[in-house]
Amino acid sequence: MAFRGRRPCRPALNILVTAGPTREPIDPVRFISNRSSGKMGYAVARAAAGRGHRVCLVSGPVALEPPGVDLVRVETAADMLKVVLDRIDGCEALVMAAAVADWRPAVAATRKLKKAEMPLTLALARTPDILETIRSRKAGRVFVGFAAETGDPLDEARRKLTAKGLDLIVANDVTQPGAGFEADTNQVTLISSDGTTEPLPMMGKDAVAERIIRWIEEKHGKSKSDRAK
Ligand code: CTP
Repeated sequence: MAFRGRRPCRPALNILVTAGPTREPIDPVRFISNRSSGKMGYAVARAAAGRGHRVCLVSGPVALEPPGVDLVRVETAADMLKVVLDRIDGCEALVMAAAVADWRPAVAATRKLKKAEMPLTLALARTPDILETIRSRKAGRVFVGFAAETGDPLDEARRKLTAKGLDLIVANDVTQPGAGFEADTNQVTLISSDGTTEPLPMMGKDAVAERIIRWIEEKHGKSKSDRAK
């Protein structure tokens, strides 16, 4: 029988999404982390799957329902980097929505530290910057990052867009009502490497996620046709 409906002409992409915070252990019961809920990254994973893409979600510890995609749970920035390095070659796009902790305790104790032993000053070491580490593996892939700032995020987001070699950065001011970590809504500005700045109104994180996925589809389509020329 002839196909009568509209043919889906959009290719299914392999999209790697990171979400949530990372936890950097002080000892087996204590850690350094941040306030990320993972909601934005999980919404991106759901939106991508809903549009027919194959999704791998690399998630730090969050209290959210698994979104029904390939899910890899990690704890630390180093764990997250390892999974991203393992999976990146099989992907056409990466969305780094995770709030990767920037520091870890220089030494993680293997047993619970007693109150009296706990240093009042904690020696810290930098965690790896995942985007900077995988920049050399970008090739034709679409890379999207986030810049969650306190205050006007645009200058800082543009700096990160360039410094991290991204195609798109999603900037927001987490101090604005309805745009913070636990909220189901977000108010973001999309800034792309071609110089376009698109402020979006306050909307559900699912709607923001859908915009990001559509942007990736368009960018991937354009890059493919540019490569074919
Ligand atoms: N990111 C990353 N690896 C890190 C820290 C951040 O890949 N160790 C990614 C985030 O997932 C995000 C982007 O880089 O997509 C910007 O993260 P952000 O925390 O805003 O930037 P930092 O580079 O950590 O800079 P700062 O904390 O000084 O604002």
